[in-house]
Amino acid sequence: MSSVVTPEFTRGLPKAELHLHIEGTLEPELKLKLAKRNHVDIGQTTIADVQKTYNYHDLASFLAVYYPAMNVLQTEEDFYDLAWDYLTKAAANNVRHVELFFDPQAHTSRGIPFEVVLNGLYQATVDARALNVDAHLIMCFLRDFSKESARKTLQEGLKYRDKIIGIGLDSDEHNNPPLKFARQFEEAASAGLHITTHCDIDQKDSIEHIRQALEIMEVERLDHGTNIVEDPDLVELAAKRKIGLTSCPLSNSFVSPEMKGQEVIELLNAGVKVSINSDDPAYFKGYISDNYYALAQKYDLTKDQIVQLAKNSFETSWISQRQKQLYLDEIDHFVTANA
Ligand code: HPA
Ligand code: ZN
Repeated sequence: MSSVVTPEFTRGLPKAELHLHIEGTLEPELKLKLAKRNHVDIGQTTIADVQKTYNYHDLASFLAVYYPAMNVLQTEEDFYDLAWDYLTKAAANNVRHVELFFDPQAHTSRGIPFEVVLNGLYQATVDARALNVDAHLIMCFLRDFSKESARKTLQEGLKYRDKIIGIGLDSDEHNNPPLKFARQFEEAASAGLHITTHCDIDQKDSIEHIRQALEIMEVERLDHGTNIVEDPDLVELAAKRKIGLTSCPLSNSFVSPEMKGQEVIELLNAGVKVSINSDDPAYFKGYISDNYYALAQKYDLTKDQIVQLAKNSFETSWISQRQKQLYLDEIDHFVTANA
């Protein structure tokens, strides 16, 4: 097999996307279109104007641009259009399976009913079956909101239990540890929902948060989570429990000086199921295949390593063993055909 990783190879490789915020797929074009359609003044009228606001150097400065932009999302149709635009791009990237995040509180807190958000997104995931993309929704709590707000959000979400695959935790991690939401996570897990949490890169308490998530809350995946390399015992635990780590290289390069490729390589070598994802592609200049390719280029990854990352994405996804095997076979066929 030629060891050179090309953009065509990363695009064609069958993959699962496990760390994707649907609100982070809001491209400037759609943002402006929805602003006009809903008569929302966002203070920008051209794509260049919108792009000029994209200045961030860490998680907090990114979130300060990210959340206000969501004001343009008002109706069920808007949420449908947002998800549909992403899902067509996922299909073009040969994403065969996606478990995507949405932030209900970012919308309910500004008066948009929960069901408007959920129904619009869900209908797009149903229609995406015709694109050959198997899409599911992960409901995230905003960790800088109160426990009480998370409790109410979980109650709402449980009314739509069959339309949600799992629970996540995102937004500003500073002084907002996973344990703050231990009760809600336990209740969600008891209801049969899968659980995952962001442990963002280079946070004040990264290792303590990873420890809480793995040892106490027993999440199935860590979103980002690559600071785990600082603690060999936790790395061993993650490998043993087959915990999925959903790394996002281009996102990392915006909020830190690096893509965290050395950490990804170290985790691969330690047998940890790390995968590559796009996080907020409209804000971080690249969809999932761009993330695979950028990482391969920067760190000289081999095709074997890229293939392992794609296999890890299916292996740590929330699907049956039978489905996993079919997707892994699909990867093997692709690799043979593109040797
Ligand atoms: N971390 C925390 N919150 C987020 C992120 C992230 O990577 N992306 C969108 N919201
Ligand atoms: Zn994220």
